[in-house]
Amino acid sequence: MKVIEPATPEQFKQYYQLRYDTLRKPWDQPEGSERAEDDEQAIHAMLVDDEGEAVGVCRLHLNTPQEGQIRFMGVRGDKQGLRLGDRLLSYLEDRARQLGATSITLQARENAVNFYRRNGYDVIEKSYLLFGSIQHYKMAKQL
Ligand SMILES: CC(C)(COP(=O)(O)OP(=O)(O)OC[C@H]1O[C@@H](n2cnc3c(N)ncnc32)[C@H](O)[C@@H]1OP(=O)(O)O)[C@@H](O)C(=O)NCCC(=O)NCCS
Repeated sequence: MKVIEPATPEQFKQYYQLRYDTLRKPWDQPEGSERAEDDEQAIHAMLVDDEGEAVGVCRLHLNTPQEGQIRFMGVRGDKQGLRLGDRLLSYLEDRARQLGATSITLQARENAVNFYRRNGYDVIEKSYLLFGSIQHYKMAKQL
C-alpha cells in the first residue's frame, strides 16, 4: 500500500467515489454532494493497495500561509480500524510543512475524534451538526 496524489481521470474518479461512499452515501446524500468548490485548489492524497485500488482519501488546503486544513478523510469500510488513516494524515501533514504551514485545523465527526487525538490533535470546541445528526468538533495540531 502507498499514498499517491491522484493525477489521472481514473484516479480522480476513484478518489471522489470513495469520498462519496464514506462521507455522503450513508446519509442518503445525492451524488455530487461530495464535491467542494475549492477542490481544484486543494492537495489530494489517496491510499491505494497493490492493485492501485483506492483504500482511503483525504485532502489538504491552506486557510492562511501558516494554517493548513484537512477535510474529507475517509477510509473504505472494509479497511477501517486498521490505522490506515494515520498514513493519509501524516502524508498531508508533511505536505503542509513543506508549504510552510505551522498548524493544521480540522472539523472532526464525533466518531473520528479519538482517531485524530491519537494523531496529536486537540479539541478546540464543539462546532456544528451536519445533516442534522453528525456532531462536529473543531480540532487543531501544531506541526
Ligand atoms: C475515521 C476514519 C478516517 C479513521 O481511519 P481508520 O484507519 O479507520 O482509523 P483507526 O484504525 O485508528 O480506527 C478508527 C476507529 O474505528 C474503530 N474501528 C475498529 N474496527 C472497525 C471496523 N471494522 N469498522 C469501523 N471502525 C472500526 C477503531 O476502534 C477506532 O475507534 P476509536 O477511534 O474510538 O478508537 C475511518 O474510520 C473512516 O473513514 N470513517 C468513516 C468516515 C469518517 O467518519 N471520516 C472522518 C470524517 S471527520
